[in-house]
Amino acid sequence: MNALVTGVAGFIGSHLAERLIKEGFRVVGVDSFTDNYPRRIKENNLRDLVANPCFRFIEGDLISLNLGEILKEVEVVFHQAAIPGVRTSWGREFNRYVTNNILGTQLILEACKDRGNIKKFIYASSSSVYGDCCVLPLSETTLTNPVSPYGVSKLAAEHLAVLYFKGYGVPTVSLRYFTVYGPRQRPDMSFHRFISAILTNREIEIYGTGEQTRDFTFVDDIVEANIQAFLHGKEGEVYNIGGGSKIRLIDVVRIIEEVSGRKARLRHLDSQLGDAKHTYADISKARMDLNYSPRISLYEGIKRHYEWLKKNLDIYQH
Ligand code: NAD
Ligand code: UGA
Repeated sequence: MNALVTGVAGFIGSHLAERLIKEGFRVVGVDSFTDNYPRRIKENNLRDLVANPCFRFIEGDLISLNLGEILKEVEVVFHQAAIPGVRTSWGREFNRYVTNNILGTQLILEACKDRGNIKKFIYASSSSVYGDCCVLPLSETTLTNPVSPYGVSKLAAEHLAVLYFKGYGVPTVSLRYFTVYGPRQRPDMSFHRFISAILTNREIEIYGTGEQTRDFTFVDDIVEANIQAFLHGKEGEVYNIGGGSKIRLIDVVRIIEEVSGRKARLRHLDSQLGDAKHTYADISKARMDLNYSPRISLYEGIKRHYEWLKKNLDIYQH
């Protein structure tokens, strides 16, 4: 089975490609090394993959690549490429979100249409499509009401995935990932920033009170959900993929203190425009259709993330 992973040099894409190869897939990976964080970090994410004969890397941009040619031999597409930051999606930056997240998705869907060889197209959507909602947990039928331009771009692309299924039969399945963490997490994200601050004896910067809550999801669970969506996902459908717990940010810091045996020093900054206050996934639909169930508890996941970052801190410190 041949798979295409877009955004393969990123945090989630690199883990997914490694797992697919373990499962016996041949993987073509595409990435344009966008500068949301340094290229050397993304090259490091690819280090084991490029040494594997079952992996082929194409450096290039979805906007300009000949996608039709790449898709000729491909049976499943895992579309992870996007500009991912929530808080940085305002102002002129939004142009990049429109181009990479909306136009990039439309171009690859367009290239997939009328291709009988594509058995499934999995789109990496996001909990950010929900925004702030007073009723938790969030189910797939909850009204989408993004509070960040990033969320708007992810929702637009999700709608395109559904439209290309309805209009052209592209077998799309969208997975709404809830804040993902674990080894190789992007350096702009909370767990990476908190753990590296505690490891280097710096203050942990908390946006707002720290009372905001998230349903954090370990990256291996996200990867498993992608495999299950390929096998069992219903075409044209959207699934929440969460980690199974809802925790205040301030309590995450307590767990990091326990795992590291170090005391955190906190500095509270202004809350950030675009941040949802609370997220918590109702995963009953994914449980039912995909047999999805998160396996890694938050404590165990933070332990693994901490141990990994402790060993690999130098990659991030240039
Ligand atoms: P990441 O930035 O680590 O990976 C994304 C990769 O896509 C990058 O390496 C980037 O260079 C590449 N890319 C972007 N635009 C491209 C283009 N036009 N052509 C080719 N490559 C391109 O981000 P991540 O955290 O691994 O996120 C992966 C996906 O999951 C994204 O679609 C993101 O929106 C989604 N997502 C992430 C999270 C999370 O918590 N990390 C949660 C919900 C959804
Ligand atoms: C994450 C990803 O970055 C998005 O790509 C993704 O789409 C989104 O999850 C999702 O679930 O859809 P976010 O929830 O903001 O977005 O993830 P974190 O960066 O881990 O932030 C979690 C919370 O910690 C936020 O409230 C944020 O404001 C806060 N934070 C973050 C801090 O207080 N300090 C920091 O240094 C970083």
